[in-house]
Amino acid sequence: MGLLAIIGGSGFTSLPGLVPLETLAVETPYGATSASLIRGELGRGEILFLPRHGADHRLPPHGINYRANLWALRAAGAEWVIGLAAVGGITPLFAPQVLAVPDQIIDYTYGRAHTFYDGTSEGVEHVDFTEPYCESLRQALIQTAARLDEPLIPRGTYGATQGPRLESAAEILRCEQDGCDMVGMTGMPEAALARELGLCYACLAFVVNWAAGKSGSVITMKEIEENLGLCVERVLSILKAVAAR
Ligand code: HPA
Repeated sequence: MGLLAIIGGSGFTSLPGLVPLETLAVETPYGATSASLIRGELGRGEILFLPRHGADHRLPPHGINYRANLWALRAAGAEWVIGLAAVGGITPLFAPQVLAVPDQIIDYTYGRAHTFYDGTSEGVEHVDFTEPYCESLRQALIQTAARLDEPLIPRGTYGATQGPRLESAAEILRCEQDGCDMVGMTGMPEAALARELGLCYACLAFVVNWAAGKSGSVITMKEIEENLGLCVERVLSILKAVAAR
């Protein structure tokens, strides 16, 4: 396995247990990354870590420079990228505290710099995105979780919404009718940009709330934070084991 990068989302502004070896401020043609990259040891494996929302969690989902982040990770040698994602659960199996490795994605975001082929480079390549996630990394996550006896749903469609507000109940119903199982705000354009760069990218999602209209009550940050806290250790144990492969 080539060098693994982990992009941390909500709940993972830092990666507990990561022993830093080097901080890398990477210049990119697309501007600044969310934060400096950290090269470090996670368990028995060496990884790169990048907090998607910045080291102090200040960047909203639509304000993240996804192009700079992916470009910098590849420039620093990453071949594999795991995007961590706190999500809302839509379909019945995707209850709070469930972990999942999605296999499909629908993009509802807008106005984000979503491609490296923006007219400034030579030519346009229409990358294949039939299977939006890298199957070998998906399988590494799924098999690692199985080995650790960590329950995880090995599939699911991730709906990427614009945020930063949560959705209306009708918007979630539309996502569900479209086939979404979970909803988050950062899955795109991250997955597509990784594909354009030839990176092997997969998402490790953890459900932190029932999506709007799915629980009969409003969604609170307290609920989200509590569920997030209960997912952190399980996510970390999977990441450590994947990093050691
Ligand atoms: N909607 C969108 N993004 C999210 C949610 C949600 O309900 N929960 C966590 N990220």
